[in-house]
Amino acid sequence: MSDIRPESQVQPSLIPPLDTLFFNPSLMELEFLHEAVSADDGEMRKRILEVQKDAKYPYPCILGFHHVALMMSGNPIYPAVLKSGKRGDTVFLDLGCCMGTDVRKLVHDGYPAASVLGCDLRQEYIDLGYKLYRDQESSSIRFFTSDIFDVPLSFTQPATRLEGLAGTKIASLSQLIGSLTHIYIGAVFHLFDEATQYAIALRLATLLKRERGAVIFGRHRGLEQEGMIDDHLGRTRYGHSERSWPVLWKKVFTEAESAEFAERRVKVEAKLSEIFWQHVFGKGR
Ligand SMILES: C[S@@+](CC[C@H](N)C(=O)[O-])C[C@H]1O[C@@H](n2cnc3c(N)ncnc32)[C@H](O)[C@@H]1O
Repeated sequence: MSDIRPESQVQPSLIPPLDTLFFNPSLMELEFLHEAVSADDGEMRKRILEVQKDAKYPYPCILGFHHVALMMSGNPIYPAVLKSGKRGDTVFLDLGCCMGTDVRKLVHDGYPAASVLGCDLRQEYIDLGYKLYRDQESSSIRFFTSDIFDVPLSFTQPATRLEGLAGTKIASLSQLIGSLTHIYIGAVFHLFDEATQYAIALRLATLLKRERGAVIFGRHRGLEQEGMIDDHLGRTRYGHSERSWPVLWKKVFTEAESAEFAERRVKVEAKLSEIFWQHVFGKGR
């Protein structure tokens, strides 16, 4: 565990104030929020602002209204993941799901809710998701708290694989070793330094089912040239590049399986784009 360095704490005085000007939903986001939160536009906006205010550690992404942004569904691999989920017999996890907007959109798009899991370190965010969407009683998505760093690395002694989710109470990521067909992780890697990002990737590889078509996907702050991010909140954060990201994953699967497995069975794609920052600072600005 020595290679794991916790997320940097931010001095409260550096955190910018909340600003409703950053709420610039796209048409697709508005449509979803009207369906999932409230058809009444005023009520929908009121609840979004309420949960934003209640979020105890306001990540810059929450200040930028990412708690109600639909970024997962914009990922190029999303249609294939959705199609595979609709065929059945898959298990989906959003790791670091925050208030669970992306997984609710996934289910809205047709992925079977009973096969969808949302995990976050902070119960408070999951509760704020229930407060926002008012679906604690009605939703079949299973949300739970767990820490990615608590996943044991069991490459040499494989743990018992979970045989389907039906009827199983999921309370910890360690129950899911080798069981997940689809893993989404959004805006999490970039919270950490390089060695810790490697430790996260190793644990995601541990959770992934060894099956053709199994996917880990996401989006994180990157750099044209990999290195430390010049962070306006003074946090210690590393950014991968389009070149270093595949190197990371090949190394992870070499450690988890073998060099041959990493070479022949693992495909890695990374693309640097502006979308993340457009969402933080408002579209078109
Ligand atoms: C910056 S937010 C991103 C939220 C969302 N995925 C998105 O794309 O907007 C990072 C999320 O990861 C969660 N998180 C941070 N460290 C974690 C850990 N060690 N294990 C599980 N979740 C973690 C945080 O609580 C937070 O909800």
